[in-house]
Amino acid sequence: MPANYDNSASFYDRLSRLVFGKALVNAQAWLLPRIPKDAKVLIVGGGTGWILDEISKLHPSGLSITYVEISANMMALSRKRNIGTNHVEFINKAVEDAGLPADFDVVITPFLFDNFTEDTLPRVFQHIHQTLKPGGLWFNTDFQLTGKWWQYAMLKSMLLFFKVLCGVPSWRLPDVGKQFNKFGYEVADEKSFFEDFVVSKVFRSRSVPAE
Ligand SMILES: C[S@@+](CC[C@H](N)C(=O)[O-])C[C@H]1O[C@@H](n2cnc3c(N)ncnc32)[C@H](O)[C@@H]1O
Repeated sequence: MPANYDNSASFYDRLSRLVFGKALVNAQAWLLPRIPKDAKVLIVGGGTGWILDEISKLHPSGLSITYVEISANMMALSRKRNIGTNHVEFINKAVEDAGLPADFDVVITPFLFDNFTEDTLPRVFQHIHQTLKPGGLWFNTDFQLTGKWWQYAMLKSMLLFFKVLCGVPSWRLPDVGKQFNKFGYEVADEKSFFEDFVVSKVFRSRSVPAE
């Protein structure tokens, strides 16, 4: 059973701001100026959709966005966001079931993969990988453990909270870096937030066709 955030949609953003201040927003906002003009963008697990507001502040037009979110309640909130004159297709399904084309310039996965285990991660990762054009950009934001005890305590508390409320199946962060390596991505840029507990990375697919 995949995680479903329906039960937390009404308070998710308030809780996140209470615990992390603006760190989770800043971590994702740092990536957004790198979206190329007129790009085709896939967002997976965008939650309440505030990222659409942030994207539209920077890129009010020209983007074609596909927004995939498994939670109906999160999706309902997302549909109310300001999208400027960008085109947004909302798909209320698990990304694995969304039947997406393979022509995205940018893929964004913000705090998606901590919902998966070592066993379930490879399938979802491959699905998303197949949607990105050769040479495309993949923006991933997630928690990381850099050896500080409080990071470990916070992570366990969050996973327990969301396990009880939303059925998040994992007890630990799956090895997402291994998947990016396996599929030939290189890190083009990265920045840490919240004393290194949160990291945003820009990955570039190495599989650019020969010219
Ligand atoms: C931890 S929340 C992060 C929300 C948002 N990105 C943020 O930073 O505020 C993860 C989101 O991913 C969604 N999700 C989980 N598994 C999914 C899947 N397989 N396909 C699409 N969305 C999924 C959940 O419903 C939830 O809204």
